[in-house]
Amino acid sequence: MYTKSLIISFAAIAAATPLSVRSGYTVGPFNTCSASDLAQTSCRNTTVIQDDCCIETRGGQLLLTQFWDWNPGTGPSAAWTVHGLWPDRCDGTYEGYCDPSREVTGDQITEIIQKNGGHNLLRYMRRYWKDHSSVDGSLWSHEYNKHATCFSSGRPECYASNNDSTHPQKDVFDYFYRTVELFKGLDTYKVLKAAGIVPSKTKTYTLAEIQGAIKKAFGVTATVGCTKDTPEIAEVWYHFHVKGGNVYNGEYLHIDGGKSFCPETGIKYLPKGKGDGN
Ligand SMILES: *[C@@H]1O[C@H](CO)[C@@H](O)[C@H](O)[C@H]1NC(C)=O
Ligand SMILES: *[C@@H]1O[C@H](CO)[C@@H](O)[C@H](O)[C@H]1NC(C)=O
Repeated sequence: MYTKSLIISFAAIAAATPLSVRSGYTVGPFNTCSASDLAQTSCRNTTVIQDDCCIETRGGQLLLTQFWDWNPGTGPSAAWTVHGLWPDRCDGTYEGYCDPSREVTGDQITEIIQKNGGHNLLRYMRRYWKDHSSVDGSLWSHEYNKHATCFSSGRPECYASNNDSTHPQKDVFDYFYRTVELFKGLDTYKVLKAAGIVPSKTKTYTLAEIQGAIKKAFGVTATVGCTKDTPEIAEVWYHFHVKGGNVYNGEYLHIDGGKSFCPETGIKYLPKGKGDGN
């Protein structure tokens, strides 16, 4: 069950227990950061950041974005799926494709994750990080190339060691690993279901009901996206600032979302189908 108090205790656990202990994988190793940088939070820093590897300065507002893909249905019928982890500027504007020299293909991503020993991570991604087509790697490479290349922190230069023989291109591995770990704490299906919002061919919901369910679970709103015509709920974006570290090892602080792309009423939440156009 997601309740406000549970989320607060989750955050406390997250702060006390490094990611590596919880999952068996580690991020980094990163270069050392100053105590004054590590005391800061992205978009809320009270001092000038000395090293932009240490606190995110380019895309300080992070978005974990999810799909509800029903036609054709992708992923498990009772789960939302990962879209990506995006760096927005503090004001909500954003850049894309920031470093063509770092771009990777879906096959390269698979190989990098395998060589880093990320078999469980890859299995999870194949289940929950789905492209519309059957080629999930095309979404993975799109997300990495468009978004991950725009973080100031988490660049190859931020690593003390980034490409040794047992950990090739750790910066690529860490993007997928951190995104999945964040996604696991944001179970949109469960949050909506707890408020009686479940997929249906006939029922409609209001934006206030959907935002109320999200706010009850996380204490903040999210950006909710609908298809233009019908309207059907299709996306949710969760917003964060990052405290005390870079985009991969810092603590994510949940903040309110932006303006939603849905009308106030009449929103459908359709069951996942097999392309039957329902
Ligand atoms: C926060 O850090 C950025 C990047 O170093 C800097 O431009 C800005 O002035 C800092 N804000 C404050 C209040 O020091
Ligand atoms: C990583 O190391 C391998 C083997 O030394 C090398 O072939 C490859 O070009 C390196 N990749 C990057 C992105 O530095």
